[in-house]
Amino acid sequence: MSESIPRVCDLIRREALKLLTDGSVAVDATVGNGHDTLFLCEAVGERGRVYGFDIQPVAIERTRERLREAGLAQRARLILGSHERMADHIGAESADVILFNLGYLPNGDHTVITKGEITVAALKTAVNLLKTGGAVFVAIYWGHPGGREEKEAVEAFAASLPSDRFDTAEISFPNKNKAPLALIIQKK
Ligand SMILES: C[S@@+](CC[C@H](N)C(=O)[O-])C[C@H]1O[C@@H](n2cnc3c(N)ncnc32)[C@H](O)[C@@H]1O
Repeated sequence: MSESIPRVCDLIRREALKLLTDGSVAVDATVGNGHDTLFLCEAVGERGRVYGFDIQPVAIERTRERLREAGLAQRARLILGSHERMADHIGAESADVILFNLGYLPNGDHTVITKGEITVAALKTAVNLLKTGGAVFVAIYWGHPGGREEKEAVEAFAASLPSDRFDTAEISFPNKNKAPLALIIQKK
């Protein structure tokens, strides 16, 4: 039986899982409803640690509740604050995986969106927090107003990274209208 092409979030999780093991350090830069944070908490094992950021209290609350229900809350440190300040909480060259999921909070306020300038500032910080072999994964949702500008800013940032220090890849779905993209930045 043939396997179908995964959705962008599943594709990112599949690749991220290859870099995670018991004791890993991971970051969810946009916790939202906590689905990715839960995935990371499961993947880093009992000895691992997940740092999660969001600027909306409702997102932090939903994520905290999701982790509590799963019995994994002790593996996460949830921070109400903007992700471009993540270096205040995480040491340089210490993260195995950093996830960004751009756009707005599903079942939340659709006017609160990630913004290109801030996202790029956060990505600049994030790449410095990666261990050798670690990676930043960005799910780029860009169908909403402002999304195209953010997508272009993120792509320009990835294109500017020196190829002797970082590998980059972007996965797109060419026959789907404004489908989300997956961007991967791996530190060599
Ligand atoms: C697409 S949602 C994330 C979905 C989430 N990954 C999940 O599994 O449910 C994007 C989130 O980014 C958050 N966000 C927007 N700007 C932010 C910033 N500067 N720092 C941290 N989070 C931000 C929004 O509040 C929203 O919850």
